[in-house]
Amino acid sequence: MNAAPTTPALANDAQRGSHWQQRMVLQPFYDVGGITIYCGDNREILPLLPDADLLLTDPPYGIGEGVKASRRTQAAKGDARWKSRVPTDYAPGEWDSEPVPQWMMELARAKCARQIIFGGNYYPLPPSKCWLVWDKDNGASDFADCELAWTNLDKAVRRLRYLWNGFQKEKPEKRYHPTQKPLELMSWCLNQVPEAKTILDPWMGSGTTLVAAKERGLKAIGIEANETYCRDAVSRLAQGVLGLENEKSCDSGAIKQ
Ligand SMILES: C[S@@+](CC[C@H](N)C(=O)[O-])C[C@H]1O[C@@H](n2cnc3c(N)ncnc32)[C@H](O)[C@@H]1O
Repeated sequence: MNAAPTTPALANDAQRGSHWQQRMVLQPFYDVGGITIYCGDNREILPLLPDADLLLTDPPYGIGEGVKASRRTQAAKGDARWKSRVPTDYAPGEWDSEPVPQWMMELARAKCARQIIFGGNYYPLPPSKCWLVWDKDNGASDFADCELAWTNLDKAVRRLRYLWNGFQKEKPEKRYHPTQKPLELMSWCLNQVPEAKTILDPWMGSGTTLVAAKERGLKAIGIEANETYCRDAVSRLAQGVLGLENEKSCDSGAIKQ
């Protein structure tokens, strides 16, 4: 994942963006009530999107977590349901086999004045005054005690303790994605930037960021390469929304209102 897949050698990101602008017309997968999902490769889609107030995202860390988490889940549950969760452009779990290229991380950051990036400890990011620490309250297990989000916020380090250890969870939450974040965690992240009205998540997964944004009436855009996760996100966003029968689903899976 070191270069945009079908983009010819282009000198810089601005050229890359204008190149795709000439060739692509963006078609949202879902566009309802200020929440928009694009299903596709963010390296192609992100250059075409407007700026947002807050980047809140959870990119692949490049540590093979997709494969590991899928195996863990399969072993624990004895079923093969994750086998169908194959990203359209990648072999099973391969979306996490390489870190995001530097140019892509910089492009995502350039879109938003405020930035919160989970797994920031895996990326070369500037020194930060404010890391957000998610204490998973795991007890004595082989799994990491905490996950870290890098931010560019001008405030002190903050910690949320929220149990998330296999089937043990602070609050019950349906699992859609092998590396899904708790809804409460993403909501807590939004609390850190109360002035943000528009949110961007270019590595959306099953859409936890978008559900948290929707719950507080914010606008949000998510991008995800795996259509199954896009559908999961739509189903999560649809929960509790009245008038779903008015939404149209067309051949491409696009939903608009
Ligand atoms: C760590 S997961 C995000 C999980 C999410 N926080 C959740 O709660 O469901 C990262 C996601 O980025 C997606 N992804 C990886 N490379 C991508 C790309 N080039 N374009 C769009 N999505 C990509 C993967 O398919 C994966 O679902």
